[in-house]
Amino acid sequence: MSIDPASIAELAPPASLRIPAHIGVIMDGNGRWAKARGKRRTEGHIEGVKALRNLVELCINYGVANLTVFSFSSENWTRPKDEIVFIFNLLRRFVASDLQRLIRNNVQVRIIGSRDGLEPSLIRLIDDVEAKTAANTGLVLIVAFNYGGKAEIAEAARKLAREVAAGRLSPEAITEDRIAGALYTAGLPDPDLIIRTSGEQRISNFLLWQAAYAEFVFVEENWPDFNEDSFVRVLETFARRDRRFGGVEAVQS
Ligand code: IPE
Ligand code: IPE
Ligand code: MG
Repeated sequence: MSIDPASIAELAPPASLRIPAHIGVIMDGNGRWAKARGKRRTEGHIEGVKALRNLVELCINYGVANLTVFSFSSENWTRPKDEIVFIFNLLRRFVASDLQRLIRNNVQVRIIGSRDGLEPSLIRLIDDVEAKTAANTGLVLIVAFNYGGKAEIAEAARKLAREVAAGRLSPEAITEDRIAGALYTAGLPDPDLIIRTSGEQRISNFLLWQAAYAEFVFVEENWPDFNEDSFVRVLETFARRDRRFGGVEAVQS
């Protein structure tokens, strides 16, 4: 019997838990979680919010500095209207019920994504939660809502093109840093780790630019089932990864 050295590496116990400075999460599988229990998809979304609340607490306890969660993609507009309305109302309810707790826990909230197509009252709510938590110095919780990675890059390109057209920027000055600074995530470190639940193994337009050197960990459980055990298992997997960033030696992150 031959043993694949790669599988030995995966089985080895972690040297220690390395805490990523930025974790991105594609919270997928709410609908399948509900379907498996004979419930409506919307009930899966309600349970998904509970899992998110739990994850925020875990990130605070484990000392993660930045957490980006994917909660509504620019492609999710293709879903039935009533499901879209439900998800939008869930965001409103989450803000209403959790804002005080987030403030108490020193969490800074940023909501990234396109404001196009959002109702003015929702935009006001987003601005309000960002303003009320802006001075907080603990976990930065970035909610990707009405977010698409390609749209974000296109928006950054338009912004820079306008600067060039106005004569304020030369094309040669458009560097990687300049593009990164024109994205919604300006000023944030790139994610070290991206987790996707529900067994799907794709990026679905999440943080395309920022994910250039992220480690991906795919887990089988649907998002509402993601708990502390799942979180620790993912961190252990991350700790065993050899991050080389194109070089030959592993780099500590
Ligand atoms: C993720 O769960 C939540 C959103 C995309 C809003 P899904 O709603 O995609 O659940 P599945 O993938 O259909 O199970
Ligand atoms: C990605 O999940 C978007 C969010 C988690 C918000 P989807 O369920 O929309 O992705 P696909 O359609 O399976 O790629
Ligand atoms: Mg899905």
